[in-house]
Amino acid sequence: MNGKNNFNQRRRNFLKGFLTLGALITTDWLAPSFVYSSCELTPRESSGPFYPLNYPDDKDNDLTYLKDKSKKAKGEIIYINGIVQGENCEPVSKAIIEIWQACSTGRYNHPEDRNRAKLDPNFQYWGKAITNENGEYSFKTIKPGSYPASWFWTRPPHIHFTVRSSNHSQLTTQMYFSDESLNLKDRLLQNHSKKEQQKCVVTFYQKKQKKIGQFNLTLQNL
Ligand SMILES: [Fe+2]
Repeated sequence: MNGKNNFNQRRRNFLKGFLTLGALITTDWLAPSFVYSSCELTPRESSGPFYPLNYPDDKDNDLTYLKDKSKKAKGEIIYINGIVQGENCEPVSKAIIEIWQACSTGRYNHPEDRNRAKLDPNFQYWGKAITNENGEYSFKTIKPGSYPASWFWTRPPHIHFTVRSSNHSQLTTQMYFSDESLNLKDRLLQNHSKKEQQKCVVTFYQKKQKKIGQFNLTLQNL
């Protein structure tokens, strides 16, 4: 039995035991319970024009407030968690994940963003997380607004991701929200096959008054 089969067997055993117990592990957003996905590569997308020119002083994985401000960012708070894995389903520890996004009005903190919507002075706009030994990561942020990419194209709410790991090629992609009709017309998302789109479109669920979504990322091994 090769390493991949071994890992898959362990994963099946884990899920079997989990279901047999009928237990629901109580988790916080920093220690989520994960649904394992297939290990097909996450589709790539460009980083777009709004990767930040300068990082905020606050560089953590909670984008809903800045450490030197007393007010919280505007918008709907969401929790994103997931696992980073390699092509053989192995968890990738110590991967560095960056996210950047628009605030709730659909505006990026970038001088090239011509959108006239207001910036949110209390929003962090960019954040960073490092996966633990199980490949797990999490972010707390707000759902970004949609924004005009051109006069005939409105980008649906999405969050940009870049993942770096020493044994894998760098992945840049975008995460989308399943309840958005703009997804159906988005030129970037619709460039992918339906199967690929499913890997980037996340369905959020409510748990203990928290809106949580799981976004797993599969990296290409070097
Ligand atoms: Fe964007």
